[in-house]
Amino acid sequence: MKAPKKTNKKLDQLESHSTSNDQEKLTTNQGLKINNNQDSLKAGDRGPTLLEDFILREKITHFDHERIPERVVHARGSGAHGVFKLNKSLAKYTKAKFLTEVGKETPVFVRFSTVAGNRGSTDLARDVRGFAIKFYTDEGNYDLVGNNMPVFFIQDAMKFPDLVHAVKPEPHNEIPQAASAHDTFWDFISLMPESMHMIMWLMSDRAIPRSFSRMEGFGVHSFKFINDEGKAHFVKFHFKPKLGVHSVAWDEAQRISGVDPDFHKRDLWESIENGIFPEWDFGVQLIPEEDEDKYDFDLLDPTKIVPEEEVPVQLVGTLTLNKNPENFFAETEQVAFHPGHIVPGIDFTNDPLLQGRLFSYTDTQLIRLGGPNFHEIPINRSVNTVHNNQRDGYMRQQIPKGKVSYEPNSIGGGCPFQAMMSEGGFASQEARVSGAKVRERSRSFVDHYSQAKLFYNSQSTPEKIHLQNALIFELSKVTIPAIRERVVGQLAFIDKSLAWRVAEKIGVTVKELEFPNQSIPADANPA
Ligand code: HEM
Repeated sequence: MKAPKKTNKKLDQLESHSTSNDQEKLTTNQGLKINNNQDSLKAGDRGPTLLEDFILREKITHFDHERIPERVVHARGSGAHGVFKLNKSLAKYTKAKFLTEVGKETPVFVRFSTVAGNRGSTDLARDVRGFAIKFYTDEGNYDLVGNNMPVFFIQDAMKFPDLVHAVKPEPHNEIPQAASAHDTFWDFISLMPESMHMIMWLMSDRAIPRSFSRMEGFGVHSFKFINDEGKAHFVKFHFKPKLGVHSVAWDEAQRISGVDPDFHKRDLWESIENGIFPEWDFGVQLIPEEDEDKYDFDLLDPTKIVPEEEVPVQLVGTLTLNKNPENFFAETEQVAFHPGHIVPGIDFTNDPLLQGRLFSYTDTQLIRLGGPNFHEIPINRSVNTVHNNQRDGYMRQQIPKGKVSYEPNSIGGGCPFQAMMSEGGFASQEARVSGAKVRERSRSFVDHYSQAKLFYNSQSTPEKIHLQNALIFELSKVTIPAIRERVVGQLAFIDKSLAWRVAEKIGVTVKELEFPNQSIPADANPA
């Protein structure tokens, strides 16, 4: 097995937190050596166990508290350490140091996941895959929390809890676990025309990858790059697997799920153990800020791609995964990604889905990881040292010295000061914001079918047949005929023969749809 290079700052940092129990004497958490790990303390050898038995109490209490809540979405995951190497400088577009110094290697931790299933569900579900990367840069952690599909179901964060409630097991009976084939999911989808592009991806072979190392990764939203002069470009992020994109067919997925539900987890683990390191090319699509309105879709709309024919992907770096975690819980389970973790040179756009995500991740991690100090958990620590006046809270690990924890102060005594931009201090892009305060969807978000069509038409004939069969299978599980009919009505806006074929197999007719979704203007004409 090839050993990863020893220059990985993050691995060195983690090493200082590692413990080995090899050949050690068993102790309590207080360091007391234990001389009998077989029997509890009793009043007589057949008598009741004594409350006094602090060794038994400690062991059982800790066991009782071993579980933390699983992630509310993306609960099932697999992770690995690795390195990101920059091959071509992006200094013209961004001042982010890890993207400007050619040859620079940045440690990363990557977590792949399914979205809907629980922690113990199968890897082979028809589902979106999470593709989340934590770059431990010298300027702080940068998280790219993406998926293996370049678009999303919804355009506005307001709909996320509804989407997830529809896709998760139904609340009355908790069925089904990991498949999307059920009434609530398709009911919601049938009422949300904006999901149609994503549905084409979800019903395609892309939703059942052959392995994590054979799937693409996408940042989904448009982000912004800001260069040294303050000039901005829109940027879309891509990861392209060196092994190419491969999927399994649905019947294969069914069988594998029965035999080895850990198929993807095992593949990732074993390939890294055997020195076959998964690799991706990292690429960007760049659009000058002043070209924002040049496209027939809105760059802020997360249900749209930027076609690669119009804006080619420039490959600038390599992502390599070369080390398995030492401990699944400590690393893969406790890692906390957040699209709001950025570094100077990268900024957000006004994509209304992204804006909502910026709130959600810390909020959920506060409960999932037990309070405000989860950034101190080893896997989440920045390799850049952390200095601020935040203090206290559950599970505080740092021991900041001195009596001052506020700013400004005249006492000094170890208090950190804000950094100038020239010292690497982060400043948000200065951008003009104006407009009436409205709770509305932009009209520029209204075309829900052109790119769904584009995707369907890009499929080869066998791929189209797989997609049709997926729809037929999924919709045949829907028990309410009106829902089946509405989905087929949506499909008719994408491809009439697709709608027709599916309708025939699931026993409904293709009817002209009126838009049932209030957010869609009545005069929109998708045909
Ligand atoms: C995980 C919320 C959209 C990718 C999560 C988690 C939450 C969440 C609460 C669990 C985090 C944790 O417990 O650590 C949301 C909300 C969204 C949204 C509110 C929309 C408003 C998206 C989109 C993507 C995405 C569009 C892809 C671009 C992921 C990934 C994870 C995740 C990859 C798993 C991270 C990991 O491996 O720990 N999301 N999400 N999410 N989300 Fe989102």
